[in-house]
Amino acid sequence: MSFNVAIDGPAGAGKSTIAKAVAKKLGLIYVDTGAMYRANALNIIRNNVDKNDKEKMIELSKKADISLKFENGEQSVLINGENVNAFIRTEEVGNMASISSAIPEVRKAIVDTQKRIALENDIIMDGRDIGTVVLPQADLKIYLTAGSYERAKRRYRELTEKGIECDLETIQKEIEERDYRDMHREMSPLKQAFDAVLVDSSDMTIDEVVDHIYNLCLQKKGV
Ligand code: DC
Repeated sequence: MSFNVAIDGPAGAGKSTIAKAVAKKLGLIYVDTGAMYRANALNIIRNNVDKNDKEKMIELSKKADISLKFENGEQSVLINGENVNAFIRTEEVGNMASISSAIPEVRKAIVDTQKRIALENDIIMDGRDIGTVVLPQADLKIYLTAGSYERAKRRYRELTEKGIECDLETIQKEIEERDYRDMHREMSPLKQAFDAVLVDSSDMTIDEVVDHIYNLCLQKKGV
C-alpha cells in the first residue's frame, strides 16, 4: 500500500514550499496538482480563448494530454508532450487556472491521473480538493492556510525579489478573488476535509510548519 499525504489550502498559503520540504525529509514524491490545471490554462491562453467561453475551454481540455514526469525529485508537467514548467508560474496563468478548473469536464481527466499516481507511489500531493475528492482515503490530511494579507505580503516579496514590479493591494485583491472562486465553485470547492488537521501558518516560520507536518507524518507512519 502506498503512503499518501494530502495538503489543501488557498493560494499562497505555502503548500508547495512546505510539501517539497516534507517530501525531501521523508523520501516521498511531491505532486503539485495546481501545475496540471496551470498547464491546461496555458493551453487555453495560447489558443486565445475568452475567459467566458466555457465550450471552447472544454473542447481544448478534452483534447489535451496532461501528464507528470518526476526526475531527481523534481516534477515536470507536460501538455501534449511539451514540458511547460517554465511558462506556468505567472499570475495570468494562475487566474485562468482558477477560472477553467471550476468546469467539471476540465477536472475529470486530471483527477483520474492524480488518483493513479497516488495509488502507485508514496506521495505528498497538494491542491484544493485532494483530501475531499482526489484522495479521501489519504493517510494524513492537512488544511494549510494563512490570512490573505499575510499571503499577499509573501507573494509581493517573492515577486520584488525577482525584480518584478507589483502592488501589494492588487495582489491581496486578486488572492481574495481567487479564494472566493476556488471556495464557491460547484464542483470540488476548496474546503477543509472533516478529518484534516488545520494548520494556520500566519505566525509560523516555514521550518516550524515543516517540522509540525513532518511529525504528524511520522505519527501516521507509526515511526
Ligand atoms: O495551487 P495553484 O495556485 O498552482 O493552483 C492554480 C489554480 O488551479 C487554483 O486557483 C485552483 C486550481 N486548482 C484546483 O482547482 N484543484 C487543485 N487540486 C489544484 C489547483
